[in-house]
Amino acid sequence: MEVVITPTPRHAAELAADAVCRLLEDDPRSVLGLATGSSPLALYRALIDRHRAGQVSFGRARAFTLDEYVGLPRGHAESYREVIRRELEDHVDFPAGAVTGPDGHAEDLARAGRDYEEAIVSAGGVDLQVLGLGGNGHIAFNEPGSSLNSLTRVKALTRRTRSDNARFFGGNAEEVPSLCLTQGLGTIRRARHLVLIATGEAKAPAVAAMVEGPVSASCPASVLQLHPHVTVLLDGPAASDLQHRDDYAAAWAVKPAGQGL
Ligand code: GLP
Repeated sequence: MEVVITPTPRHAAELAADAVCRLLEDDPRSVLGLATGSSPLALYRALIDRHRAGQVSFGRARAFTLDEYVGLPRGHAESYREVIRRELEDHVDFPAGAVTGPDGHAEDLARAGRDYEEAIVSAGGVDLQVLGLGGNGHIAFNEPGSSLNSLTRVKALTRRTRSDNARFFGGNAEEVPSLCLTQGLGTIRRARHLVLIATGEAKAPAVAAMVEGPVSASCPASVLQLHPHVTVLLDGPAASDLQHRDDYAAAWAVKPAGQGL
Protein backbone atom coordinates (compact mmCIF):
# COMPACT_ATOMS: atom_id res chain seq x y z
CA MET A 1 0.00 0.00 0.00
CA GLU A 2 1.51 3.34 -1.02
CA VAL A 3 0.30 6.21 1.14
CA VAL A 4 0.82 9.64 -0.41
CA ILE A 5 0.16 12.72 1.73
CA THR A 6 -0.42 15.66 -0.58
CA PRO A 7 -0.50 19.38 0.31
CA THR A 8 -4.09 19.90 -0.90
CA PRO A 9 -7.04 17.84 -2.19
CA ARG A 10 -6.29 19.34 -5.61
CA HIS A 11 -2.83 17.75 -5.59
CA ALA A 12 -4.37 14.38 -4.73
CA ALA A 13 -6.77 14.73 -7.65
CA GLU A 14 -3.97 15.67 -10.07
CA LEU A 15 -1.90 12.63 -9.04
CA ALA A 16 -4.90 10.37 -9.60
CA ALA A 17 -5.50 12.04 -12.97
CA ASP A 18 -1.84 11.41 -13.89
CA ALA A 19 -2.37 7.70 -13.17
CA VAL A 20 -5.55 7.52 -15.28
CA CYS A 21 -3.93 9.38 -18.20
CA ARG A 22 -0.82 7.27 -18.08
CA LEU A 23 -2.93 4.10 -18.12
CA LEU A 24 -4.97 5.28 -21.12
CA GLU A 25 -1.83 6.34 -22.92
CA ASP A 26 -0.30 2.88 -22.40
CA ASP A 27 -3.52 1.13 -23.42
CA PRO A 28 -6.42 3.23 -24.74
CA ARG A 29 -8.72 0.21 -24.32
CA SER A 30 -8.25 0.15 -20.55
CA VAL A 31 -11.15 -0.48 -18.20
CA LEU A 32 -11.76 2.10 -15.49
CA GLY A 33 -13.68 1.68 -12.25
CA LEU A 34 -15.53 4.85 -11.28
CA ALA A 35 -16.65 5.89 -7.80
CA THR A 36 -19.24 8.43 -6.73
CA GLY A 37 -19.34 10.58 -3.59
CA SER A 38 -17.57 13.92 -3.30
CA SER A 39 -14.00 12.59 -3.00
CA PRO A 40 -13.42 11.78 -6.71
CA LEU A 41 -15.07 14.94 -8.06
CA ALA A 42 -11.83 16.94 -8.27
CA LEU A 43 -10.27 14.00 -10.16
CA TYR A 44 -13.14 14.01 -12.66
CA ARG A 45 -12.77 17.77 -13.13
CA ALA A 46 -9.04 17.32 -13.75
CA LEU A 47 -9.77 14.59 -16.33
CA ILE A 48 -12.33 16.80 -18.08
CA ASP A 49 -9.79 19.66 -18.23
CA ARG A 50 -7.12 17.36 -19.65
CA HIS A 51 -9.56 15.92 -22.17
CA ARG A 52 -10.50 19.44 -23.33
CA ALA A 53 -6.79 20.25 -23.62
CA GLY A 54 -6.40 17.21 -25.91
CA GLN A 55 -4.26 15.35 -23.40
CA VAL A 56 -6.44 12.29 -22.88
CA SER A 57 -9.12 10.39 -24.77
CA PHE A 58 -11.64 7.91 -23.41
CA GLY A 59 -12.72 7.01 -26.94
CA ARG A 60 -11.71 3.36 -26.67
CA ALA A 61 -12.02 2.95 -22.91
CA ARG A 62 -14.75 1.31 -20.88
CA ALA A 63 -15.88 1.96 -17.33
CA PHE A 64 -17.85 0.29 -14.56
CA THR A 65 -19.33 2.16 -11.63
CA LEU A 66 -19.08 0.79 -8.12
CA ASP A 67 -22.58 0.87 -6.77
CA GLU A 68 -26.16 2.08 -7.13
CA TYR A 69 -29.08 2.91 -4.90
CA VAL A 70 -32.11 0.64 -5.01
CA GLY A 71 -35.51 2.32 -4.86
CA LEU A 72 -34.89 5.65 -6.58
CA PRO A 73 -37.06 6.54 -9.58
CA ARG A 74 -35.33 5.91 -12.92
CA GLY A 75 -33.19 8.91 -13.90
CA HIS A 76 -33.20 10.39 -10.36
CA ALA A 77 -30.48 13.06 -10.19
CA GLU A 78 -28.80 11.36 -7.23
CA SER A 79 -28.77 7.89 -8.73
CA TYR A 80 -25.09 7.03 -9.06
CA ARG A 81 -25.45 6.32 -12.76
CA GLU A 82 -26.74 9.89 -13.24
CA VAL A 83 -24.01 11.37 -11.05
CA ILE A 84 -21.29 9.73 -13.17
CA ARG A 85 -23.02 10.89 -16.34
CA ARG A 86 -23.20 14.46 -15.07
CA GLU A 87 -19.78 14.68 -13.42
CA LEU A 88 -17.66 12.92 -16.06
CA GLU A 89 -19.25 11.02 -18.91
CA ASP A 90 -21.13 13.96 -20.48
CA HIS A 91 -17.91 15.98 -20.72
CA VAL A 92 -15.51 13.44 -22.24
CA ASP A 93 -15.58 11.07 -25.21
CA PHE A 94 -16.57 7.66 -23.89
CA PRO A 95 -18.32 5.76 -26.71
CA ALA A 96 -22.06 5.20 -26.23
CA GLY A 97 -22.66 2.29 -23.87
CA ALA A 98 -19.07 2.20 -22.64
CA VAL A 99 -19.99 3.17 -19.09
CA THR A 100 -22.18 0.79 -17.13
CA GLY A 101 -23.39 0.49 -13.57
CA PRO A 102 -25.23 -2.06 -11.44
CA ASP A 103 -28.93 -2.15 -12.37
CA GLY A 104 -30.71 -0.91 -9.26
CA HIS A 105 -34.07 -1.24 -11.05
CA ALA A 106 -33.78 -4.93 -11.89
CA GLU A 107 -36.67 -7.09 -10.76
CA ASP A 108 -34.21 -9.80 -9.80
CA LEU A 109 -31.45 -7.91 -8.01
CA ALA A 110 -29.46 -11.02 -7.13
CA ARG A 111 -29.32 -11.91 -10.78
CA ALA A 112 -28.41 -8.32 -11.71
CA GLY A 113 -25.48 -8.64 -9.33
CA ARG A 114 -24.29 -11.85 -10.98
CA ASP A 115 -24.73 -10.31 -14.45
CA TYR A 116 -22.66 -7.31 -13.41
CA GLU A 117 -19.84 -9.55 -12.23
CA GLU A 118 -19.92 -11.36 -15.57
CA ALA A 119 -19.85 -8.09 -17.49
CA ILE A 120 -16.74 -6.94 -15.62
CA VAL A 121 -15.02 -10.27 -16.22
CA SER A 122 -15.89 -10.30 -19.93
CA ALA A 123 -14.50 -6.77 -20.30
CA GLY A 124 -11.19 -8.17 -19.06
CA GLY A 125 -11.50 -6.84 -15.49
CA VAL A 126 -10.93 -3.36 -14.14
CA ASP A 127 -7.45 -1.92 -14.69
CA LEU A 128 -7.72 1.09 -12.40
CA GLN A 129 -10.41 1.41 -9.76
CA VAL A 130 -11.07 4.82 -8.22
CA LEU A 131 -12.30 4.62 -4.63
CA GLY A 132 -13.54 6.97 -1.92
CA LEU A 133 -13.81 6.04 1.74
CA GLY A 134 -16.91 6.16 3.90
CA GLY A 135 -16.60 7.74 7.34
CA ASN A 136 -17.32 4.29 8.80
CA GLY A 137 -14.62 2.62 6.68
CA HIS A 138 -16.89 1.44 3.85
CA ILE A 139 -15.77 1.28 0.23
CA ALA A 140 -18.43 1.32 -2.47
CA PHE A 141 -21.39 0.44 -0.22
CA ASN A 142 -19.68 -2.41 1.60
CA GLU A 143 -20.69 -1.53 5.11
CA PRO A 144 -18.96 -2.85 8.27
CA GLY A 145 -19.50 -6.60 8.48
CA SER A 146 -19.27 -7.13 4.72
CA SER A 147 -17.56 -10.34 3.66
CA LEU A 148 -14.03 -9.63 2.53
CA ASN A 149 -14.68 -11.88 -0.50
CA SER A 150 -18.14 -10.55 -1.36
CA LEU A 151 -19.28 -9.99 -4.94
CA THR A 152 -21.92 -7.61 -6.35
CA ARG A 153 -25.08 -7.97 -4.27
CA VAL A 154 -27.81 -6.13 -2.43
CA LYS A 155 -26.78 -4.47 0.82
CA ALA A 156 -28.59 -2.42 3.44
CA LEU A 157 -27.14 1.00 4.14
CA THR A 158 -26.31 1.80 7.74
CA ARG A 159 -27.90 4.69 9.60
CA ARG A 160 -24.47 6.39 9.57
CA THR A 161 -24.14 6.18 5.77
CA ARG A 162 -27.70 7.36 5.21
CA SER A 163 -27.07 10.34 7.42
CA ASP A 164 -23.66 11.03 5.77
CA ASN A 165 -25.38 10.99 2.36
CA ALA A 166 -28.41 13.05 3.46
CA ARG A 167 -26.66 16.16 2.10
CA PHE A 168 -27.44 14.89 -1.42
CA PHE A 169 -31.12 14.44 -0.50
CA GLY A 170 -32.07 17.84 0.88
CA GLY A 171 -30.51 17.06 4.25
CA ASN A 172 -33.08 14.37 5.04
CA ALA A 173 -31.61 10.94 5.85
CA GLU A 174 -35.07 9.39 5.48
CA GLU A 175 -34.96 10.29 1.78
CA VAL A 176 -31.76 8.28 1.29
CA PRO A 177 -32.65 4.78 0.07
CA SER A 178 -32.02 2.04 2.58
CA LEU A 179 -30.89 -0.54 0.00
CA CYS A 180 -28.24 -0.59 -2.70
CA LEU A 181 -26.62 -2.88 -5.24
CA THR A 182 -22.88 -2.72 -4.75
CA GLN A 183 -19.72 -4.34 -6.02
CA GLY A 184 -18.36 -6.53 -3.25
CA LEU A 185 -14.98 -6.35 -1.58
CA GLY A 186 -14.00 -9.41 -3.63
CA THR A 187 -15.01 -7.60 -6.82
CA ILE A 188 -12.97 -4.53 -5.90
CA ARG A 189 -9.97 -6.65 -4.94
CA ARG A 190 -9.84 -8.09 -8.46
CA ALA A 191 -9.10 -4.70 -10.00
CA ARG A 192 -5.45 -4.40 -10.92
CA HIS A 193 -4.73 -0.99 -9.37
CA LEU A 194 -6.79 0.63 -6.63
CA VAL A 195 -6.54 4.41 -6.20
CA LEU A 196 -8.34 5.63 -3.08
CA ILE A 197 -8.81 9.35 -2.42
CA ALA A 198 -9.69 10.61 1.07
CA THR A 199 -9.45 14.23 2.18
CA GLY A 200 -10.50 16.24 5.22
CA GLU A 201 -10.23 15.63 8.94
CA ALA A 202 -13.55 13.79 9.17
CA LYS A 203 -11.95 10.88 7.27
CA ALA A 204 -8.87 10.65 9.55
CA PRO A 205 -10.14 7.85 11.86
CA ALA A 206 -11.34 5.71 8.92
CA VAL A 207 -8.04 6.30 7.09
CA ALA A 208 -6.06 5.19 10.15
CA ALA A 209 -8.21 2.07 10.57
CA MET A 210 -7.87 1.24 6.87
CA VAL A 211 -4.10 1.68 6.65
CA GLU A 212 -2.83 0.78 10.10
CA GLY A 213 -5.63 -1.16 11.79
CA PRO A 214 -6.19 -4.92 11.64
CA VAL A 215 -7.67 -6.41 8.46
CA SER A 216 -11.24 -6.79 9.58
CA ALA A 217 -14.76 -6.69 8.21
CA SER A 218 -15.40 -4.07 10.89
CA CYS A 219 -13.42 -1.68 8.68
CA PRO A 220 -14.16 -2.98 5.16
CA ALA A 221 -11.50 -0.75 3.56
CA SER A 222 -8.80 -2.51 5.63
CA VAL A 223 -9.05 -5.37 3.12
CA LEU A 224 -7.02 -3.16 0.78
CA GLN A 225 -3.97 -4.13 2.88
CA LEU A 226 -4.15 -7.53 1.12
CA HIS A 227 -4.06 -6.06 -2.39
CA PRO A 228 -0.72 -5.90 -4.22
CA HIS A 229 -1.20 -2.47 -5.82
CA VAL A 230 -3.02 0.18 -3.80
CA THR A 231 -2.40 3.92 -3.81
CA VAL A 232 -3.95 5.94 -0.98
CA LEU A 233 -4.03 9.66 -1.80
CA LEU A 234 -4.62 11.87 1.25
CA ASP A 235 -4.38 15.48 2.28
CA GLY A 236 -2.77 16.42 5.62
CA PRO A 237 -5.99 16.46 7.69
CA ALA A 238 -7.08 13.02 6.41
CA ALA A 239 -3.61 11.67 7.30
CA SER A 240 -3.57 13.23 10.76
CA ASP A 241 -4.33 10.03 12.73
CA LEU A 242 -1.71 7.92 10.95
CA GLN A 243 1.03 6.74 13.28
CA HIS A 244 3.62 6.29 10.52
CA ARG A 245 2.79 9.35 8.43
CA ASP A 246 6.38 10.67 8.55
CA ASP A 247 7.63 7.37 7.10
CA TYR A 248 5.07 7.50 4.27
CA ALA A 249 6.12 11.06 3.47
CA ALA A 250 9.82 10.11 3.53
CA ALA A 251 9.23 7.14 1.19
CA TRP A 252 7.33 9.35 -1.26
CA ALA A 253 10.12 11.96 -1.17
CA VAL A 254 12.72 9.44 -2.39
CA LYS A 255 10.51 7.65 -4.92
CA PRO A 256 12.33 7.50 -8.27
CA ALA A 257 10.93 10.08 -10.69
CA GLY A 258 8.80 8.73 -13.52
CA GLN A 259 7.79 5.56 -11.68
CA GLY A 260 4.14 6.59 -11.48
CA LEU A 261 1.72 5.44 -8.84
C1 GLP B 1 -20.69 6.83 -0.56
C2 GLP B 1 -20.29 5.90 -1.73
C3 GLP B 1 -18.85 5.55 -1.68
C4 GLP B 1 -18.06 6.78 -1.31
C5 GLP B 1 -18.34 7.17 0.11
C6 GLP B 1 -17.66 8.45 0.55
O1 GLP B 1 -21.70 6.36 0.22
N1 GLP B 1 -21.06 4.71 -1.89
O2 GLP B 1 -18.43 5.01 -2.94
O3 GLP B 1 -16.69 6.52 -1.42
O4 GLP B 1 -19.71 7.17 0.38
O5 GLP B 1 -18.28 9.57 0.04
P1 GLP B 1 -17.62 11.00 0.03
O6 GLP B 1 -16.50 10.94 -0.93
O7 GLP B 1 -18.71 11.92 -0.41
O8 GLP B 1 -17.16 11.27 1.43
